[in-house]
Amino acid sequence: MDKKVRVMYVIAVITTVFTSAMQLINPIVTQLVVDEVVKKLPYVEQSQMQGLISTLITLLTIMIVFTFIKSTTIYFSVITYEKCAQDFLYGIRDRVYKNLQQQDSSFFTYNTTGDLMTRLTGDMDMIRHTICWVIRMFVECFCLFTATTIYMLSQDVLFTLSLLVVTPFIFIVTKIFSKQVRPLYINLREKLSILNSNAQENISGNRVVKAFAREEYEINKFAEKNEDYRQANLQATMKWLQFFPIIEGLSQALQISVLLVGGLFIINGRITSGTFLAFSSLCWTLSNPMRMLGTLLNDLQRFFASCDKVIELYYNRPRIRNKQGAVVTKERAKGDIEFKDVCVKINGNEVLKNINLHIKPGETLAIMGSTGSGKSTLLNTIVRLVDISSGSLTLDGIEVSKYNLHSLRKNIGMANQDVFLFSDTIDSNIAYGDLSLTLDEVKHFAKLADANFIEKTADGYDTLIGERGTGLSGGQKQRLALARALAIKPPILILDDTTSAVDLETEKKIQNSLRNLEFDCTKIIVAQRISTTKTADHIAVLDKGEIIEYGTHEELLKNNGYYKEVFDLQNGVSNEEGGDK
Ligand SMILES: Nc1ncnc2c1ncn2[C@@H]1O[C@H](COP(=O)(O)OP(=O)(O)O)[C@@H](O)[C@H]1O
Ligand SMILES: [Mg+2]
Repeated sequence: MDKKVRVMYVIAVITTVFTSAMQLINPIVTQLVVDEVVKKLPYVEQSQMQGLISTLITLLTIMIVFTFIKSTTIYFSVITYEKCAQDFLYGIRDRVYKNLQQQDSSFFTYNTTGDLMTRLTGDMDMIRHTICWVIRMFVECFCLFTATTIYMLSQDVLFTLSLLVVTPFIFIVTKIFSKQVRPLYINLREKLSILNSNAQENISGNRVVKAFAREEYEINKFAEKNEDYRQANLQATMKWLQFFPIIEGLSQALQISVLLVGGLFIINGRITSGTFLAFSSLCWTLSNPMRMLGTLLNDLQRFFASCDKVIELYYNRPRIRNKQGAVVTKERAKGDIEFKDVCVKINGNEVLKNINLHIKPGETLAIMGSTGSGKSTLLNTIVRLVDISSGSLTLDGIEVSKYNLHSLRKNIGMANQDVFLFSDTIDSNIAYGDLSLTLDEVKHFAKLADANFIEKTADGYDTLIGERGTGLSGGQKQRLALARALAIKPPILILDDTTSAVDLETEKKIQNSLRNLEFDCTKIIVAQRISTTKTADHIAVLDKGEIIEYGTHEELLKNNGYYKEVFDLQNGVSNEEGGDK
């Protein structure tokens, strides 16, 4: 909470203290009206009547004025609570979202989108509810209870104590209740997150669901989660209902005590009827806090369940982050990349073993290898989406781990294997890395990526793409991703199988543009087609995380290894079937 919000919040809490204490004024004035006016009425002479009436008017005026002040103060204090809660939440949401942006890719493997969304919405709202309602009610109840008790004690100690007899029982009962309800709310929170994750995944995967005609199955799966959530809700509510009558009963007992004890005391002349009336109307200010305690603890347990989740997200630190004194460069990298004995372990599995590679500025390295051989991982180590476990990986002679992440990644244009596009226009998607690009520049990069299909769409560059690029073919998405990577004119371009879904003709054009880029660029390209790899300066063949072949196209052909095998296979296929795979 920033300082201004904190000060405002403290002011709101203080006003609550005052307005709670002011709740006592009406019963006290009532007491005075009875004792000073009503009771004297039968005994006064006509001449003294005027005095009584003016006392009555004064007392009533006090009542009206204080009621007005109280209502106005409550009005403004509630507004302040709400404003503080919104400001506070705005800050938290912002911070949590920023933190979310910095998490490692593995973080998103372990946390589902649905769960993260629940944290950002439902859990946040629980925090708001606590800040602007639960805490206010706690303060109000506490003050009301204390002020009433003090006032009552000042009037009659014995009478007061006879009313307070039930309080310890209420405390014991609510304590037991809150202990029992807590795990139920943690469970409820978990069930909601599962329900949301299920819905989110289903919505994203709706095409697969339709293609496999699995709607029925998905509906049943959701119904199951829905039922779990309903049960969890019922369990928590039922627990509350078990305790509610006890708390309610105990606080109702107060009314009976007042009548019983108060009646006896009036009969034997210990208290005045005014005092009795005051106690009777204050009975509410005593019993209500007791009754509220259960509700508040109930809400507080929900709050704790949500709070844990938000705090976790708030403080979670990525493992891949800037080191102290990280190198910040404004300069364009030269693009010299060197792997020395690089090993990468993921969850104990050795995904890359003793990688040694040197890619000089402006060179093109092609990487080939079967699925799962570690190609994507190798590329990810350069942008630090994955950190190396041992060895050394340098860019322009400096360890990549020593760069400021932002500086490092700004220098790298990357197009991933599974293309992700935002639900925005084609223009904005291409200019994602550099929003200052003009439409002409965007068109230029689209042309380099041979994305000529854009002009044929209804709205051209203003065509809206569906979520994750729905509405486009695989090859079209790949070309947009390539244009997006090229658009930042990166000194290092990393393409992970980016042309796998385009036809041979298009691929040839793309290769041609890549060879003739107007800016200096070191290229690392994962590809399965010989047509792509043969013009590369060097080719590395990966197998089970190791480089098994390395050299130029001609050298590797002479080698008679994996590369030669692929070459023969593809040549054979292209001779028989005319090319496209
Ligand atoms: N985040 C990850 N968690 C666990 N294993 C992973 C992860 N990323 C990659 N791997 C494993 O590393 C190996 C290499 O994967 P990858 O680099 O994607 O291969 P390629 O791109 O060559 O198909 C695979 O066996 C894969 O299961
Ligand atoms: Mg891959």
